[in-house]
Amino acid sequence: MSFTPVASAYPATRLRRARATAWSRDMVRETCLSPANLIWPLFVTEGTGTEEPIASLPGVSRWSVDGIVERAREAVDLGIPCLALFPNTQGDRRSDDGAEALNPDNLMCRAIRAIKDALDDSIGVLTDVALDPYTAHGQDGLIDGEGYVLNDATVEILVGQSLNQARAGADIIAPSDMMDGRIGAIRAALEADGHHNVQIMSYAAKYASAFYGPFRDAVGSSGLLKGNKKGYQMDPANGDEALREVAMDIAEGADSVMVKPGMPYLDIVSRVKQTFGVPVYAYMVSGEYAMIEALVAAGAGDRDAVVLESLLAFRRAGCSGVLTYHAAHAARLLAKG
Ligand code: PBG
Repeated sequence: MSFTPVASAYPATRLRRARATAWSRDMVRETCLSPANLIWPLFVTEGTGTEEPIASLPGVSRWSVDGIVERAREAVDLGIPCLALFPNTQGDRRSDDGAEALNPDNLMCRAIRAIKDALDDSIGVLTDVALDPYTAHGQDGLIDGEGYVLNDATVEILVGQSLNQARAGADIIAPSDMMDGRIGAIRAALEADGHHNVQIMSYAAKYASAFYGPFRDAVGSSGLLKGNKKGYQMDPANGDEALREVAMDIAEGADSVMVKPGMPYLDIVSRVKQTFGVPVYAYMVSGEYAMIEALVAAGAGDRDAVVLESLLAFRRAGCSGVLTYHAAHAARLLAKG
């Protein structure tokens, strides 16, 4: 929608009039936030009854599969429609080719099946497609002798990983690897394997960001990763290129697209939404979560207010939803009204 705001001059127009009372502010509010706009990322670990707190993400833990099912029930009760799963693969199951990603009995698949067995379609399960939780070198794909991440060979494995997850019951395949051409290849394979209603949410505009640190601790890749991911993730300086990424992924069959990280990239969210009109999601990433928790720990901000304001800003920018580690907390706040 595009229009030219017209205003009569002060004092005929006083924009503060509509702000003077809570009921009036409620009436003119342009954007709303509900638990349906939240996707809750969860980290899965081996064991039973296991909870492992993540030091760099205070308040976030890895859970064994039984705990993940409990979190899933909690999400349903809170009205959160979807979970995003990430595995912390045991060291002895990581390899240079990330083959554990193709194991139908890997941690991710066991978590998907357990959630779906317990809750069926009461909640959606979104699964990350990329090799970094499975590789011994921490890159998202296969590397050559120089450490260069190979595109086409990686796409082949990502297709296998996607089918593996879809067969275990994943509802939304979310490739976060930034290889060229993977959306089309994954879509074709899902169709051929009968998964017509399994969606793809493409991490279309994913930047080589310094805000991913705590996540790499959470999935156990931070100690393994040498170098960086700038050879495949986007340059934070680029905006037009994000539109090209999104255009290609939509053309290849993405049902929705993601921008990542979140708050420093709301201009990208807005441009994508206005240009393409597709469902856009943003990932408020681990470093953003940790910044808010650091603010709160320093006694310099009110968590509830900062979290709700941040999430509302994503909605204002054009997001259908936000992946956030604060999802359960925010949903509880929203339930209180
Ligand atoms: C990797 C992946 C990353 C995140 C989600 N998937 C990190 C990376 O690209 O190194 C980051 C999420 C976060 O920081 O919360 N496939």
